[in-house]
This record gives sequence, structure tokens and C-alpha cells, in this order.
Amino acid sequence: MSQKRILLGVTGGIAAYKSAELVRLLKKRGHEVRVVMTHGAEAFVTPLTFQALSGEAVRTSLLDPAAEAGMGHIELAKWADLVLVAPASADFMARLAQGMADDLLTTLCSATESPIILAPAMNQAMWNNHRTQRNVGLLESDPQIALWGPDQGDQACGDVGPGRMLEPQDIADRVDRPAAKVLAGQRVVITAGPTREPIDPVRYITNHSSGKMGYALAMAAHAAGADVTLISGPVNLPAPAGIKVVPVITAQDMLERSLAAVDGGCDIFIATAAVADYRPAQCADQKVKKSKDDMSLALVRNPDTLAAIAARNQAPFTVGFAAETNDLVHYATDKMQRKRLNMIVANDVSKPDLGFNSDHNQVTVFWPDGQQCLGPDTKITLAGQLVALIAEQFAQSLRTQGKPTNSSKVKS
Ligand code: PMT
Repeated sequence: MSQKRILLGVTGGIAAYKSAELVRLLKKRGHEVRVVMTHGAEAFVTPLTFQALSGEAVRTSLLDPAAEAGMGHIELAKWADLVLVAPASADFMARLAQGMADDLLTTLCSATESPIILAPAMNQAMWNNHRTQRNVGLLESDPQIALWGPDQGDQACGDVGPGRMLEPQDIADRVDRPAAKVLAGQRVVITAGPTREPIDPVRYITNHSSGKMGYALAMAAHAAGADVTLISGPVNLPAPAGIKVVPVITAQDMLERSLAAVDGGCDIFIATAAVADYRPAQCADQKVKKSKDDMSLALVRNPDTLAAIAARNQAPFTVGFAAETNDLVHYATDKMQRKRLNMIVANDVSKPDLGFNSDHNQVTVFWPDGQQCLGPDTKITLAGQLVALIAEQFAQSLRTQGKPTNSSKVKS
């Protein structure tokens, strides 16, 4: 792990308090950290907090003769190996996207030649606002800048949605494991979430999948340079920036839209979706009325998207998931062989707070001549590790077939 000189920019938002923990984690890992705060950030946390944790004077103003007499802002911009802005507010991102240099932090971003990482944090409506999204698009297309997050979930204001800053632990992990562009130029299709199999116009069969694992993988594959299509069952997650999302409802829809996406060009197919294995043999046209004390529902098997894609002549590299409550190794490896997959990611969903509808997971990944345990960790951190592992095995399979592999390029 290489020690870095990190310039941590803290902008105005309630997540600023989490940045204190981030400084502590980065210092603990041996990085040098200097903190620059915007005036907005000072309303949430005092510079003294960051000074105590970083062991360095905190800069808050561009026009501070005393501070400039020490390490001037150009010197500070040159000192940094990495500029990390966490939290990055909507206002800061707007100013950065326009190339403004109207305070110390934006000036440093203009003056540095090092990578700039933004960890956005804001209210979900602000994140979804089309002007913010326009700025996100501009920042994402800037080769010097990468966005980490935001995460989704409960917000300090009571809203639920995208805009939460990644946890300090996730950010610190990513600093130490920069996203190599290991999937640059690869086309990745991912299925995510549950399917809904209608019983009548108001009822359906489904499961507890939230889509979080699949969406985290889609974001990690995108960060690794892939062109990502996400075939998503009904979930309450926002479409991640830079990713084509194809919404589906039933297993049959998932099959059709996945086949179409694969026909459009696909190098790697990853199935995280929890697809209903059965659907009602018939969907009633009208709402079914209760009459007898018991009723039975005839079910028929659904098509298996992953197996259908893996069985093709020119099949992409296929990665399945298996959620098991018992005999994990046996069931997972059996699925890998039966469905003719290149890899399978097995989660033990018998453990509380892991797997379905949780922010955390713990998995064992199997491939024909190896296996690796990952976690327990957040799905975001695991997704980065899984993408690295999938890219490694994908490259290995290309080499085995005598095909050229990507040369990886590192951003940040
Ligand atoms: O969505 P989250 O709340 O984040 O939860 C994530 C998860 C637990 C759903 C995910 O990590 C996971 O394990 N997904 C697979 C669930 C499962 O048990 O799948 P399965 O054993 O029914 O199927 C095995 C594989 O075949 C899976 O890759 C599945 O997507 C695929 N499959 C299954 C049936 C079917 N008809 N079509 C498929 O493509």
C-alpha cells in the first residue's frame, strides 16, 4: 500500500462530521492529510477538529496572508498526490464543473495536476435535480475527476434516496485500492433486483431482493471502465449515472431484455437478480375474490436467463450468484457446473443483516480452479473487489482462448 499526500476538501453539508472519521482512518493507514474547508463546511464542523485529527493547520481562505506565507495555495496544490473532496456539495460540484476558482478549494482543484475524487453528499432531490445531473455528467467526463458514490438510503433530513456520502471506511478503502480501469472497453450486462410474477391485476409473487448488490456491481464495473447495461427488476434505487438501465417486471421480460442486450454486444454477463423460479400458470384478468378458506395456485417454471445465455454458442463470460441458506458450497458449485458458468458468487443468506435487502454482504466466489471469500463488508466495497476478481478471471479466459487482453489503466 503506497502512502499518499492527500488534500481533503470538506464542503458544507451535514456529512462533514463524517470527514473527521475519514481523516482518522487515512492517517491510521499512514497517509499525510491536509484539510481545506469551505466556509459552508465551517458551519457544520470547526477547523480545530480537523487540525487535531490531521496534526496540520487547516486552511479555510484563499486570501489569508498568514497562511499564504506558509504553504501557499499553488504549493499546496502541487504537494497533493490526491485531492479528495468529501463531502462534495451540489454547490461545490456546480462551481467545479464550471471551472470556477472563487474560493480556496476550487482554486486548488484548478491548480492541481493530481487526480480529484469527489464523494457527493446532498439531499436526494438535489442529487436528482437535472442541473445537478448535468454537472455530474460534466464532471464524469473530465479525465482528472472521478465520483465515488453517492450511496442511497436514509438521509439526515428524513428523505430516503440517493445522495448519502459513502461511509468513511469505504472511501478510505478505495483510496488504498484505486479503481484500475480493468474493464476498459468491455461491455457488461448485469441483471439486478427481484422479478414480479402477477397473480391478478393487484397481486404478485416476488422476493426480498432490493437490487443493491446488482446496482453496486454496475457502478463498480462502470468505474472500472466498462460500458454497462443494467437489466433491473422493480427496485427503489435511482438509475446510476453513466449506466443504461433497462427496467423489467417479470422473469419473461428479464429473459427477453437480457437476450436483446447480449445480442447488442456483451463481453461479460453478471446475474445478480433474484428471479422468481415459478410464475402463476395464469394471471387472472380481474381481481381474484376470496371465497373458500383455502385456495391453491398452479405455478409453472420460469425461463432461466443466465442458463440460456451461458448455453449460447458465442456465450459471454458468465457470472452467476447463488443465495443459499444451507450447503452453500455444494449448491453454488453445482449451479456453476449445471448452468455452465465461468464463475459463481455464493452468499450465505441465513446470516442476519447480510444478503437480501441489506447494505452488507459476505460471499465466497468460485471458479473452476479457485475460490475466494470476501467480506463481510458493504455491498459497495464488495462490488469493487468482485469486479477486480471478475476482470482477472475474464482476462485469464481470454488468454486461454488466445485472445488479446486489455492493458489496464489506473485513474486516481
Ligand atoms: O438485491 P439485494 O437485496 O442486494 O440482494 C442480493 C442477492 C442476495 C439477491 C444477490 O446477491 C443474489 O444472491 N442473487 C441470486 C439469488 C439466487 O439465489 O439466485 P438462484 O439460485 O435462484 O439463481 C442462480 C443464478 O441464476 C442467479 O445468478 C440468478 O440471477 C440466475 N437466474 C435464476 C433463475 C432464473 N429464472 N433466471 C436466472 O437468470
